[in-house]
Amino acid sequence: IPTDAEIAAILAEHKHREGPLLPMLHALQAEFGYIPTAAIARIAHLLNMTKAEVHGVVSFYHDFRERPAGHHVVKICRAEACQAVGGDALAEETLAKLGLDWHATTPNGALTVEPVYCLGMCACGPAAMVDDKVVGRLDAARMARILTEAGA
Ligand code: FES
Repeated sequence: IPTDAEIAAILAEHKHREGPLLPMLHALQAEFGYIPTAAIARIAHLLNMTKAEVHGVVSFYHDFRERPAGHHVVKICRAEACQAVGGDALAEETLAKLGLDWHATTPNGALTVEPVYCLGMCACGPAAMVDDKVVGRLDAARMARILTEAGA
């Protein structure tokens, strides 16, 4: 868990920038892999915003996580072209199989499932990103293999 001092040091690096909020959030996410709850109040105080406003920005951008991710992250494309070729059904099936909602992590910490909006693989949907690798033409069987390999 990030300490207050670590959080404060990161925020201090960015507070004099113009439009410091997004750089702060990106820096926190890069450092810790998520935006620690304690950082929200600090940012609100520094930037003269309410905690709800900061939280609103964090949840608006799909890149930001509010909790640490699992060991592996599968991002399933939910944008139009993938939806049109079965991406939605695949996503629903995957979540149901894991018993998770979007952004949640399996109880063993192996896998987090997140939505993503277009991976530039529209011609070969449904697409997903498994850690750093983009995979296309997914179906239930390939997804099952991905989940098994991830230890979910
Ligand atoms: Fe899924 Fe573009 S819509 S990759």
